[in-house]
Amino acid sequence: DLPRDARQQLSRLFVESQLESTNTFLLERFAQGAGHAEVCVAEVQTAGRGRRGRSWHGSWGAGIHFSLGWCFESGVAAIEGLSLAIGVSMAELLQTFGVDILLKWPNDLLVEHHGEIHKLGGILTEVRGDMEGPCEVVIGIGLNVAFGEADRQRLEQSAAGLHELVPGLSRNALISSMIDELMALLPRFERQGFGAWQADWNARHYYTNRAVVLQQGSRYWEGIAQGVNEQGNLAVRIDDREVIFSGGEISLRAS
Ligand code: ATP
Ligand code: BTN
Repeated sequence: DLPRDARQQLSRLFVESQLESTNTFLLERFAQGAGHAEVCVAEVQTAGRGRRGRSWHGSWGAGIHFSLGWCFESGVAAIEGLSLAIGVSMAELLQTFGVDILLKWPNDLLVEHHGEIHKLGGILTEVRGDMEGPCEVVIGIGLNVAFGEADRQRLEQSAAGLHELVPGLSRNALISSMIDELMALLPRFERQGFGAWQADWNARHYYTNRAVVLQQGSRYWEGIAQGVNEQGNLAVRIDDREVIFSGGEISLRAS
């Protein structure tokens, strides 16, 4: 029930050395009746997660792990494409630090380094609410910074850290700009939806016109990735048809 402009101020900042997961922490804050415009940062997560129950790894000092809670006045449907819009805004912010970010549908931040593509970070958006009423959203961002060889060996895919690209970049400076960006993005997203970010997302999509495999559970589709539509759903050319995939449980990789 706060006035509109008060709703748009950061309300609390939790800075913790170790937590299970910053997303879990803020989901619990919402369960206790708080959470809106709260940010939680953790140096280390003991159960950091990605989508589909996969884990997010980051040792002491290796990365940035934080979440922001936001209560949307509209229902769950209105936040379609939110992770993608955040991907664009994080990419644009990192550009100001001299880093070129490519995006992978739906929620990965990639960089090209020494001619190879690496995962730099990811966004995990978790929602509680129904289609009609207000909904509570926790936006979690993980970004590799001083990502070492030991960290890399724990992953199945190729990863990079920001210090390989911008040595000495301050995590504190970056995290505070990331929070500012999100606080500016959320009210705008509530008004305009994903359409306002669609063209910029497509311009950064690494897989456009590349052969990809999409997987959902035990089902696989092979095709040529296109762009995303106004809802943030990915179009893939499969034989002569265009098939539309929506985020959720689907993952994409190069074929
Ligand atoms: P993808 O494998 O393309 O990321 P996805 O987006 O469906 O698919 P998620 O479940 O969102 O995957 O993310 C977890 C993935 O991220 C796992 O493959 C995991 O190995 C990888 N991963 C975990 N921690 C890191 C990290 N710090 N840097 C890069 N990748 C990581
Ligand atoms: C992805 O899999 O690409 C998304 C990873 C999201 C990781 C971040 S780290 C901060 C927040 N807390 C979590 O448990 N996950 C997200």
